[in-house]
Amino acid sequence: CGITACVADGDVVDTVLTGLKNLEYRGYDSAGVATLNGEGVRVHKREGGIDEMVADADGLDLGGQFGLGHTRWSTHGAPTDENAHPHTDCTGTVAVVHNGIIENYADLRAELSAAGHLFTSETDTEVVPHLIEDGLAAGLDAEAAFRRAIDRLEGSYAIAVVVDGTDAVFATRRGSPLVLGVDGDRRFLASDVPSFLEFTSRVVYLEDGDVVRLTPGDHEITDADGDPISRQIDTVEWGSEDAERDGFDHYMLKEIHEQPAALERAINGRITDDNRVHLEEFPPGSFADVGEVHFLSCGTSNHASVYAQQMLRDRGVPAYAFTAGEYATTPAPVSDDTLVVAVTQSGETADTLASLRSANERGARTLAVTNVVGSTAAREADDALFIRAGPEIGVAATKTFSSQVVVLALLVERIVEDVTGEPSAEAEALLSAMRELPSQVDSVVRESTAASLANRYAERAGTFFIGRGVAYPVACEGALKFKEISYEHAEGFAAGELKHGPLALVTPDTPVIGVFSGKHDTKTLNNVEEVRSRGAPVIGVAAETSDHVAGAVDEFLPVPETHPDLSGVLANVQLQLVSYHVADLLDRSIDKPRNLAKSVTVE
Ligand code: G6P
Repeated sequence: CGITACVADGDVVDTVLTGLKNLEYRGYDSAGVATLNGEGVRVHKREGGIDEMVADADGLDLGGQFGLGHTRWSTHGAPTDENAHPHTDCTGTVAVVHNGIIENYADLRAELSAAGHLFTSETDTEVVPHLIEDGLAAGLDAEAAFRRAIDRLEGSYAIAVVVDGTDAVFATRRGSPLVLGVDGDRRFLASDVPSFLEFTSRVVYLEDGDVVRLTPGDHEITDADGDPISRQIDTVEWGSEDAERDGFDHYMLKEIHEQPAALERAINGRITDDNRVHLEEFPPGSFADVGEVHFLSCGTSNHASVYAQQMLRDRGVPAYAFTAGEYATTPAPVSDDTLVVAVTQSGETADTLASLRSANERGARTLAVTNVVGSTAAREADDALFIRAGPEIGVAATKTFSSQVVVLALLVERIVEDVTGEPSAEAEALLSAMRELPSQVDSVVRESTAASLANRYAERAGTFFIGRGVAYPVACEGALKFKEISYEHAEGFAAGELKHGPLALVTPDTPVIGVFSGKHDTKTLNNVEEVRSRGAPVIGVAAETSDHVAGAVDEFLPVPETHPDLSGVLANVQLQLVSYHVADLLDRSIDKPRNLAKSVTVE
C-alpha cells in the first residue's frame, strides 16, 4: 500500500492526488482521499485504480488545506469500496490512512464493538479511527487521542490522520516506511520519496516511533513521550524526471532501456585503473574476518542473491542465499564470522526486514544492498551498499536486478580478496569485462529479436527456463518475470533438476528456454537434448560465439561475449524483452500486474 499526505496554505487536493498517482506502483486495487477544511472531514474512496477514483471525484467538493491519500494492496478484506482507505470513525470526525498490518486488530475490534462502535469494513485499519474517537470522547485533544490510539497498536504501521477541528495532520510509523517532504509552506508525507519528488527533493527520513505534526509551513517531530526530536533534512539526488515514462509505452520498457546508464552508475568509481575493486564504504580488509555469507531477500532480489552465492562458492567462500520469509521464522545459525547481506531494492520489504532483524538480534554482522538511501534496511543493517539504479516504477524489477548483480559481483570480489588475502583468479578479467557491460547491455536492448520470437511463443501450455551456475538464478528470474507480467505459466529450474520430475510436464507445447553462461554448457546441452527428444521447442540464450549452442537449439538469442560470471546480466536482458513482448501481445497490465505490488510491506 502507499500513503500520502499534504498540508499547505492553499488547497492540497490536486497535490495529494498527484502524490498518490506517483505511488500507484505500491498497490492499485482501491484508492481514496480525505480532506479537512473549515467545514469538516470529507472522504472519497472506491474499489479500483486511482484514475477511476479520481474520475468519480469529479464534481465533489473535496477542497481543503489538509489532505490524505491511500492506494491499497489488499491484506485484510477484499478490494471493495468499504475496505478502501481512508477509514473513519462513527461520527465522521476522524479519517485515517494506514500501511502495514495491525496484528491485534481482532481484539481491539471486539473491545470497540462491545462498547458500541459500528464497523463498516473488514480491515484491520478501521480500529484506529474508532480508538481516536474514544480518546476524543474522553476529552483528549486530537494529538493526545492519536497518541493514545497508537499506544494500543501491535504490528507494523505507517499511519496519517486528520481530525475535524484541528489544523494539522498527525502521523507516525513503526516498521512501515514513511518519509516527510519539505517545500516552503507545504509539507508532504509519503510511503516513498517518488510520491513528492516532483514537488521537492528535501526529505526527512522518519524513524520508528516518531510522531509528526504537520501544519502549513511547519513540522514537529516528537517521540512517544512527546519530547521533541530533531531530524535533519536531506536532499535526494534523484530528479522527478527519473520517475517519468519519457515516451515509452511502459515504465518497464523504459527501465529496460535505462540499464546501461544504471550500470554505469553502479560501477562508477568502484573499479580501479588496474582492475581491482574499490568500494569506498569497504576498504581492503573490511571483510577479512568473514567465514561465511548469508543472503536474505525476496523475489527478484533473491535471484540476484543466488547469483552472488554461486560466485562466492565458485571462489571458495561458503555462501547461502535464503528466501527472507523462511529465514525470518527458521533462521540458519550464525556465528562471529557470518556476514548477513540483506538484498532489497526498496529496502522496505517486510519479509526481508524481519529476517534482517532476526540476524541483528542474534549478533550477526549485517549489510544492506539496496537502491534506496534512507530506507529501513539501509538504516537497520550495520552497513549499506547502494546499487544506484535510480527510481524503478514498473512493478516487475528490471534495472534493479542488473544493478544488484553487478554491485554484488563487486562485493564478492572484495570479500574473496579480503578472506584469502589476494584477488580471486577471476577478478582482473571480470572487472575488466564489467567496464564493457553497459555498452553490451545497450546493444542487446537495441538488437534483440525477442519481439518476433514472442509472436511465436505466446500462449503455450507452459514455458520452462533452465540454467546452471550463475545461469540458474537467471533462469528463475526469467520465469518470474514471465509469470508476473504475462500471467502465463512459467517455471525456472536448475538445468540438472528438470529430469527429476518437471520433465513429466514437457511436451511440444512447452517451450524450454536454456540460459548458457559459457561454463558447464555441455551439461546444459545434455538437458536440452532431453527436452528436445520429447518434442519441446528450445530457445537458447548464449554468447554470440557459442556455435555449439546455436546449432543445438530451435531459436537462438545471442548476447555479446563477456566474462562467464557477467553473462547472466546480458542473458537476462533478452529474457526481460521476451516477457515484455509476450505480455504486450497478450495486452496485459505490464507496469501494474494483477495482485502484485512493488514494495510489499507486510509479512
Ligand atoms: C515484491 C515485488 C517483487 C520484488 C520483491 C522484493 O514482491 O513485486 O518484484 O522482487 O517484492 O522487493 P525488494 O524491494 O525487497 O527488492
